[in-house]
This record gives sequence, C-alpha cells and structure tokens, in this order.
Amino acid sequence: MVADAPFRFDVLTLFPGLFEGFLGESLIGKAVEEGRIAIGLHDWRPFAENKHGRVDDAPFGGGAGMVLAPGPVVRMLDQVDDRAARAEGTAAPRRVLLSPAGRPFDQAAAQRFASGSGLVLLCGRYEGFDARVEDEVDELLSLGDYVLNGGEVAAMVVIEAVARLLPGVIGNAASLGEESHAAGLLEAPHYTRPRDFRGREVPEILLSGDHGKVAAWRHEQALRRTAERRPELHAAWLRDHPPPPPKRQRKPRRKTAAPERDDA
Ligand SMILES: C[S@@+](CC[C@H](N)C(=O)[O-])C[C@H]1O[C@@H](n2cnc3c(N)ncnc32)[C@H](O)[C@@H]1O
Repeated sequence: MVADAPFRFDVLTLFPGLFEGFLGESLIGKAVEEGRIAIGLHDWRPFAENKHGRVDDAPFGGGAGMVLAPGPVVRMLDQVDDRAARAEGTAAPRRVLLSPAGRPFDQAAAQRFASGSGLVLLCGRYEGFDARVEDEVDELLSLGDYVLNGGEVAAMVVIEAVARLLPGVIGNAASLGEESHAAGLLEAPHYTRPRDFRGREVPEILLSGDHGKVAAWRHEQALRRTAERRPELHAAWLRDHPPPPPKRQRKPRRKTAAPERDDA
C-alpha cells in the first residue's frame, strides 16, 4: 500500500464484466493491488426511468439504431463525481466521453490526464449518447478514425496509457522519458541476445560499452526512424528543435594607424 491517495479512474459502462481480466492482470493489476490507482466501474442501468431497466431509446427523427438516453447516465455521473464538490474544489476529476467524434488521444493527452486528479470515462454503446450528454463532460476523446462497438476498449487504452505515467506504476521510471512520443520522436531500436539472429547482427556500437556513443547513436536512430516512419512527427520535432545558429567568426581586428601628432 502506498501513502498517497490513489489516482481514481471511474468508468461508466453498461458492460463492467469486460474489465475483469484487464484490471486483475499485469502492471494494472499490481497498481490496483498496491493502491497506486483505484478503479470504479459503474453501470447506470439502475437509474433507468422504466421498470425494464432500459437505458436506450429510438432516435428522434428516425433512423437505425438506438440512442443512450441522457437521464440515467447523467444521474450516475453526478453520483460518481458530485457536482457540488466539483464546484468547490479545484481537484475535480476530468470527465471524458469516449467517442469517434472526439479529439484524437495521444501521449500529450495521457500526460495531461496523469497530472490531474482523476478521470471519469463514459463508455457509449449502440448509436452513442444523446447529444446533450456532451454538455455534461469536459471533453470528447477518440481512439482513432474508426468505429468500435463500445467505449470500453477505448477506456482500457486510456487507463493503461495514463496509469503507466503515474509514480511507481512502472518499475523503471527513467525509461519513460526515452519512449516513443515522450519527446516527439519514436524510440530507437532495441536488441537483446543472441548477437546474431538469422544472419542479422546487433549494431557494433551497442557492444562497445561507451555510454556516450550509445546515447548519441540512439538519438540519431530515433531521428532517422521518425523521419522514415512518421515524417509529420519529424517535421514537427525539427520545428521545435531548430539547429543552433552558426557561430559567428570573429573578424580579425584591423590595426589602425596611430593618428599623427602635429604638436611635435
Ligand atoms: C458504435 S459506436 C457509435 C458510433 C456513432 N454512431 C458514430 O458514428 O459516431 C458506440 C460507442 O463506442 C465508442 N466508440 C466507438 N468508436 C470509438 C473511437 N474511435 N474512440 C472512442 N470511442 C469509440 C463510443 O463510446 C460510442 O458511443
């Protein structure tokens, strides 16, 4: 158990069972066990306004699919993240609605979330939420330009990307700064034993024991990989890291003749 309060993830989902394996295994399972993160799963069916527990309804204007009604989910949202407390305190968790129409998720967003106090993640299903639910959240977040069946897998991605940035979750925190996207570049390639795998050898420099040269090689590889695989990231990195201006050569001083004295 750690002394600080755990970082809280509250997930609003109609399918909490989908999270079972994910939350019990590997680094996330360990982080939960050690009290570094806390995860609440909240099914809002109990807030349904009908005796059948239905939380979806037909769309106004017609069309295929069902829409998640605003009442039940927003009542659950207010219970999970109390509005009054939210208005008082500055440390309110961020309410994030998962949607293919949201802002694309990236490492910068993960870092921004990790520096906050907690996250409330809303997972849609069917045709998604009634549009008025969007007014109740801080932002809409997309995993990418494709459509999933529900927001649960997207929520797991966000939890994993954010949790690994929190203190103590990853064993070797120093490695976080060198990872892909941490500083706008892709990471340099890694190698382990054997030295020769099917005729492809580990670059000699990695066996040299010269840490300075290895670091310089890795940086050069990171730049090269980024340029080849993600030219748009490389261009952005170059914009943010302009080469230093060339050093100005000092002009040799011209010797000036001493003025002639005419008082001799
Ligand atoms: C079938 S989708 C609804 C798609 C919606 N009708 C549309 O075209 O934008 C159901 C739910 O899955 C989640 N979802 C689907 N694709 C997603 C994505 N790319 N990123 C984040 N969440 C996504 C959202 O929570 C969404 O409400």
